Amino acid sequence: MTDTQDFLTATRTFYDAIADDYAAHFQEEFAQRPLEEVLLGLYARMVGGGGVVADLGCGPGRVTGRLAALGLEVFGLDLSASMLAVARRENPGLRFVQGSMLELEQADGSLAGVVCWYSSIHTPTDRLPALFAEFHRVMEPGGHLLLAFQAGEEPRRLERPFGHPVTLDFLRRDPDAMAQLLTAAGFTLVSRTVREPEERLDEKVPQAFLFARK
Ligand SMILES: C[S@@+](CC[C@H](N)C(=O)[O-])C[C@H]1O[C@@H](n2cnc3c(N)ncnc32)[C@H](O)[C@@H]1O
Repeated sequence: MTDTQDFLTATRTFYDAIADDYAAHFQEEFAQRPLEEVLLGLYARMVGGGGVVADLGCGPGRVTGRLAALGLEVFGLDLSASMLAVARRENPGLRFVQGSMLELEQADGSLAGVVCWYSSIHTPTDRLPALFAEFHRVMEPGGHLLLAFQAGEEPRRLERPFGHPVTLDFLRRDPDAMAQLLTAAGFTLVSRTVREPEERLDEKVPQAFLFARK
């Protein structure tokens, strides 16, 4: 097995095990996170009416559904069949496909936007240049990228989430380093937002949101 298959298999196995519990836990997510809600609204406004947006690493499809409700033509992609089953159940009428965001089927320049909402957090750091190059490849010139992740240095290992016998590392990243990687991949950084962790949400580290344009 190659390293790539290792981390993709580990990620898929982890989310296949926890999909239903994860979806139930984060069901009311945006009601509790007004900044995130506003940022997604801003993103939808930036993309406007033109073209298709991909929610990559969509999980249960809560962001996909939100972007569709904001008027975007959006589909979701995820590694995990169980997550996709939840996404389809929760978002009837929206399109969800299985695959890896490191190797997209989309043609060069075919997407108006890419959203990567807490899903680059399982890609090893040395694969991030390849991930951002793939985002850049599929986006049209002027297309919009939104990247959300936990800020920080040390990874957080989650063991037995919701009592399931699986383990996965959640990689935290320095927002400036991520911004530099986006620039190196050919993107122009539009804005960076870092909010402080909220105790009531059991957050341990700041949360980062980067907007970039191709
Ligand atoms: C923390 S969850 C976030 C899900 C969703 N974006 C949300 O905010 O609810 C991370 C998701 O990214 C997916 N993922 C991680 N790496 C991926 C990859 N290389 N390709 C596709 N999906 C991936 C996982 O399967 C998982 O569903």
